[in-house]
Amino acid sequence: MTRSAPGVIISGTGSYAPPRIVSNHDLSTQMNTSDEWISSRTGIRERRIAGDGEATASMGCEAGRLAMQDAGVKPSDIDLLVVPTLISDMLFPSAASLIQTRLNLRNVTSFDLSAACSGFIYGLEVVSNMMRSGNYKHALVIGSEKLSSILDWDDRSTSVLFGDGAGAAVLSKVDDTGCGIIDSYTGNDGSKAKLLCMPGGGTAMPATKESLENRDHFLKMNGPEVFKIAVRWMEQSAKIVLKRNNLKPEDIDLFIPHQANLRIIETLARIIKIPKEKFFVNLDRYGNTSAASIPIALDEARQKELIQTGDNVLMIAFGAGLTWGSTLIKWQ
Ligand code: COA
Repeated sequence: MTRSAPGVIISGTGSYAPPRIVSNHDLSTQMNTSDEWISSRTGIRERRIAGDGEATASMGCEAGRLAMQDAGVKPSDIDLLVVPTLISDMLFPSAASLIQTRLNLRNVTSFDLSAACSGFIYGLEVVSNMMRSGNYKHALVIGSEKLSSILDWDDRSTSVLFGDGAGAAVLSKVDDTGCGIIDSYTGNDGSKAKLLCMPGGGTAMPATKESLENRDHFLKMNGPEVFKIAVRWMEQSAKIVLKRNNLKPEDIDLFIPHQANLRIIETLARIIKIPKEKFFVNLDRYGNTSAASIPIALDEARQKELIQTGDNVLMIAFGAGLTWGSTLIKWQ
């Protein structure tokens, strides 16, 4: 293992999914698609869609509250809050600012982190190293996404793939250096930015009548290209972390991949020669929830008691940027 004192563990997890379930069949009544097409190409059967009044910060608060409860810490114990998200309630201030006040986190450094679907992995990397080198004792990392607000519901090739939700983890500094977040690797290839982006609403293209008419304020994606690159970089980032920790794929007890497409996960399992049963999958019920995907999966894996003390867990992400990353955890 490459990293040493002090240790940083995930001491609690929580997740929140809006109650409204939208099935593939429901979508097929609104657009030219079918349950057969969506489930056979992606593995997705349904997704959650945020209700009126729900937004990035409100969903993140629910997940964060549950993670603090699970970790047995109080809001006053948290001194660092990082919110990986594609899009906050508004362009500024950050979702972290809104969550900070609603969760009554009075003494925190807090900011959003923009690494799209790899955001939780980036968050673990940044936060664990801030904790190792700084005075922070307990941190909250909350991936929260209301993707339904930026989906083009007239575009069947993207809108069927995504959903809303939030997942959170409390990170705590411990004396034991042999457990917790052992290593992580992250990367980004911005030359591929246009393969998955939302062109409108930023400084290059502020909202105009034309940008609205061109539907530039919605997510755009070249799915087949992203698929190929996702597989390649998820494999590479997993292999890099395994190699530098002298581990083989079979030494990992549970893989938690980004939940974008079952075919991506199955291809990854085949390439690294690991039975697909070792990969946690819940995308059938949530679709792709971007930065919330891995923390929701982690929380569900824990609830299902799929993670035991001493287990090696490898989380592998991929997203817009194009970004990627893997985090190795030895569960305490
Ligand atoms: N329902 C029915 N048909 C659809 C459809 C839908 N929701 N979406 C697209 N199609 C059609 C296309 O129009 C195309 O029709 P055509 O052959 O008549 O032109 C056909 O299905 C095949 O489209 P294609 O894009 O080649 O399908 P695919 O097998 O590559 O699957 C994705 C498309 C998007 C599911 C797949 O490329 C993918 O998952 N990519 C990765 C995307 C992703 O996960 N991104 C997030 C990363 S964080």
